[in-house]
Amino acid sequence: MEGRLRYRRRTVGLSIGLIVVVLAATLALAGEMGAALPKDFRSWTHTKSMVIPDKSHGLYGFHNIYTNDAALPTLKEGGTYKEGSAFVVSFYDVVVEGGATVTGKKIQDVLMVKDKEATGTGGWIYAAYGPDGKPLQIDPVKACYECHEKGAKATDFVFSKYVD
Ligand code: HEC
Repeated sequence: MEGRLRYRRRTVGLSIGLIVVVLAATLALAGEMGAALPKDFRSWTHTKSMVIPDKSHGLYGFHNIYTNDAALPTLKEGGTYKEGSAFVVSFYDVVVEGGATVTGKKIQDVLMVKDKEATGTGGWIYAAYGPDGKPLQIDPVKACYECHEKGAKATDFVFSKYVD
C-alpha cells in the first residue's frame, strides 16, 4: 500500500514536470515568433481609416486602425504610451464598385505592442500577419521601425491620429 502510494505520487510529480517542460517549450517558441495577433482586436476601438489606392506605394490598401484600451487615452491626449498599449492595422485590397471605394480581400494585419524589452525598436514590438493570421517573416527594424522612427518619433512612434 505504502509503496503503491509513493509510486503514484512520483507519477503525478513526473507528469506535472512534463507539463511544465512542454509549456515552457511552447512559450519559448511563441516568443521566438514574436507577439501573436490578439484574437479580439476587432472589438478594440476603431480609431481611423485611410485608403492608399496606388498599388506601387509601400502602404497600398484600405487601412482600418484599431486601438486597445491601454493606448486610447494617449492617442487622444498625447504623451508616452504605457506598457501593453497596442494598435492593429488591417490592410485590404482597394476595390472601386459603382462609384464606391470598398474593402476587397484582406492583405495583412500589422501590430504594434508597447514592450520595454523591445529596446532595438523604440520600445514597440512590430509584427505582421498574413490573411490566415499566421506571422509573416519580417525584419522589424528595416521593414517597420525605420519608417516609424523617421516620421513619428515625436508621437512615441505612432503615426495615426484619433478620428472622432
Ligand atoms: C513607409 C513607412 C512605414 C512603414 C515601412 C511601416 N509603417 Fe506602420 N504606419 C505608417 C503610417 C504612415 C501609418 C499611419 C497609417 C494610417 O493613418 O492609416 C502607420 C500606422 C501603423 C500602425 C497603427 C499605429 C500608428 O502608428 O498609427 C501600426 C500598428 C503599424 N503602422 C505597424 C507597422 C508594422 C508592423 C510595420 C512593418 C511590417 C510597419 N508599420 C511599416 C508608416 C509605415
